[in-house]
Amino acid sequence: MTLVFQSLRKVYGEVVAIDDVSTDFAPGMIHGVIGPNGAGKSTLINMTAGSYTVSSGSITLDGKRLDKLKKYQIANSGIARTYQNIRLFDQMSAIENLEVCFYPAEVAAAWSEVIWPPYANAQRRRRREKCMEILRFFDLQGYADVDAGGLPYGRQRMLEIARALVANPRVLLLDEPAAGLNHHETAELTAKLTALRSPDRIMIVVEHDMDLVMTLCDSIIVMHHGKLLFRGTPSEVQASTDVQLAYLGTANDIDDIRAAAQDRRAQLGIRTRRRS
Ligand SMILES: Nc1ncnc2c1ncn2[C@@H]1O[C@H](COP(=O)(O)OP(=O)(O)OP(=O)(O)O)[C@@H](O)[C@H]1O
Ligand SMILES: [Mg+2]
Repeated sequence: MTLVFQSLRKVYGEVVAIDDVSTDFAPGMIHGVIGPNGAGKSTLINMTAGSYTVSSGSITLDGKRLDKLKKYQIANSGIARTYQNIRLFDQMSAIENLEVCFYPAEVAAAWSEVIWPPYANAQRRRRREKCMEILRFFDLQGYADVDAGGLPYGRQRMLEIARALVANPRVLLLDEPAAGLNHHETAELTAKLTALRSPDRIMIVVEHDMDLVMTLCDSIIVMHHGKLLFRGTPSEVQASTDVQLAYLGTANDIDDIRAAAQDRRAQLGIRTRRRS
């Protein structure tokens, strides 16, 4: 199972948000997506989840085109996501936020209720137990019957991830899961996400929190002005002059950044030789 972006492009009118991005994501790994504001990170998530259409290029999972599917078909293909800005059902309890994701099963249960009520009840109990299990994993069991809108912010972030897991997705897309969390909550989140790493799952985490990214991720792609600037392990990313310059914002154009990086490497090389 591999998720593949091939010559992916997204334009909004004049704005080229994603510019010819080709890369792939293997299962069993946590993939980080980093880059300055406006680099196109959320756009990648939005296109993969079917929230935005693709302007050109393709997204495939196991060789099957996702970008041609409707959003619900993409969800049924095993893709789940969270949002940069939390989108919970505020007026529903924490557990209801999870239970509602069983909607198709709910319809089936309505029919079975008519035909065979004890079966429908057993199904409902099983569903609730499964949701409680997920809540327990996120230490949210004490909040099961609390309205999502009334939960502390950090718990809301966790609940959104919990909800994304209800369908046991093959691809989990997290857009800035640590945004607004304090140090303690971020550490807690890192531990939970680490535990979610599975050979059957592709995890993609968009994040600005570099400590979290470097601790959590096996592989990182760096986006800059809609282009894929760099791909590597956390230590390769940290060592990359291209990446450092992109974050420092000393150049606007990716070619300028590469050229500047070359110059800087040359300077460093001279210094190193002088020192030795
Ligand atoms: N719905 C939209 N309509 C028009 N332009 C958009 C839309 N969504 C994103 N953009 C533009 O596309 C570019 C990439 O935006 P995107 O939200 O993907 O960036 P990002 O890397 O997620 O940034 P941030 O770190 O601030 O969340 C930006 O120039 C943004 O203004
Ligand atoms: Mg974003």
